[in-house]
Amino acid sequence: MKNRNVDKSRNMDKNQNIDSDFKDNISFISDKHFSYDLFPKMRLRRLRKTAAIRELFQEIRLSPKDFVMPIFVQEGINKNLEIESMPGIFRYSPDKILEEIDHISTLGIKGIILFGIPLKKDLNGKNSFNDKGIVQETIKSIKKNFGEKLAIITDVCLCQYTSHGHCGIFQGNEINNDKSLDILSKTALSHAVAGADIVAPSAMMDGQVKSIRDILDDNEFKDTLIMGYSAKQASSFFSPFRDAAHSKPESGNRRSYQMSYHNSREASREIKSDIEEGADVLMIKPAIPNLDLIYAAKQNTLHPIAAYSVSGEYSMIKAATLNNWMDENLAVTESLTAIKRAGANIIISYYAKKMAEILVNS
Ligand code: PBG
Ligand code: ZN
Repeated sequence: MKNRNVDKSRNMDKNQNIDSDFKDNISFISDKHFSYDLFPKMRLRRLRKTAAIRELFQEIRLSPKDFVMPIFVQEGINKNLEIESMPGIFRYSPDKILEEIDHISTLGIKGIILFGIPLKKDLNGKNSFNDKGIVQETIKSIKKNFGEKLAIITDVCLCQYTSHGHCGIFQGNEINNDKSLDILSKTALSHAVAGADIVAPSAMMDGQVKSIRDILDDNEFKDTLIMGYSAKQASSFFSPFRDAAHSKPESGNRRSYQMSYHNSREASREIKSDIEEGADVLMIKPAIPNLDLIYAAKQNTLHPIAAYSVSGEYSMIKAATLNNWMDENLAVTESLTAIKRAGANIIISYYAKKMAEILVNS
């Protein structure tokens, strides 16, 4: 982009490799100002003068279509149970799930992510790939009733299914990466067979995206998408989820597989490896503490970026607003807007339904 009216020589001291006329005009740190860029001629408040002007120039607009609603479905219950640490969010009974999906779909939301809570756990989490398991049966019934109206995403992990609550399989006293890959890929395949559109491996085992891509392709599921939980951190913001999904590790923590929130270079490597292993969508989580990583992923890749605004992000806003310390609708809209502004193409949020209601009613 060239601005013909600008004397080229004024950029001589700048990096000659970039066609910098245009960049220079928009750079925050430019020391070259045109007179119309300065007060009193320049007045930023003009853009805020009336509600109509503000709305006309609003840069980020949320839509129900931006959101994915997480759904917990629990085997062996016959009523929906509210999650104590996430007021307003439920573990659904399998026979009540369709009613909830109908509500979500009517609001214009196009995606859900399913988490199963099985009756039986064991050392190797083998219920995770049971073709009659809680998630597999739920996928089948949603597919049968909603067809292609809604994308079904499934979380592929073992922590709800293992007796010890870790995301992989133990060998001795460590979580064995390669042994876990086998069960994770069988689990992903069983979800695809049941009708999942997108599988989302969240165990943070190295090579999980590749093993899943391989098993899907070998079994005629070449069109099933993979959303990598690419830069998933060991985060205290997952605590309410673990109450909800009964997936708290019995001992220890997840720091030998989930990454440290101190490291953004390492997050880039995680993202790069998911791309190379064949992920279709990259995910960053938690969202609000990682707006920098969302922004960097958007700038440096060509993949769609998902941000997962996790359970703790929901519970924080919920707790504060239940106390009337903030307005819930305003706080939710502001945080979800920030996540989209940082670069997320889709946002997984426990506030998806609430946000869609706000948008539909505004
Ligand atoms: C399963 C999984 C977790 C979350 C998504 N998938 C929990 C964890 O890793 O302990 C967290 C989601 C949330 O907090 O909302 N591994
Ligand atoms: Zn897990």
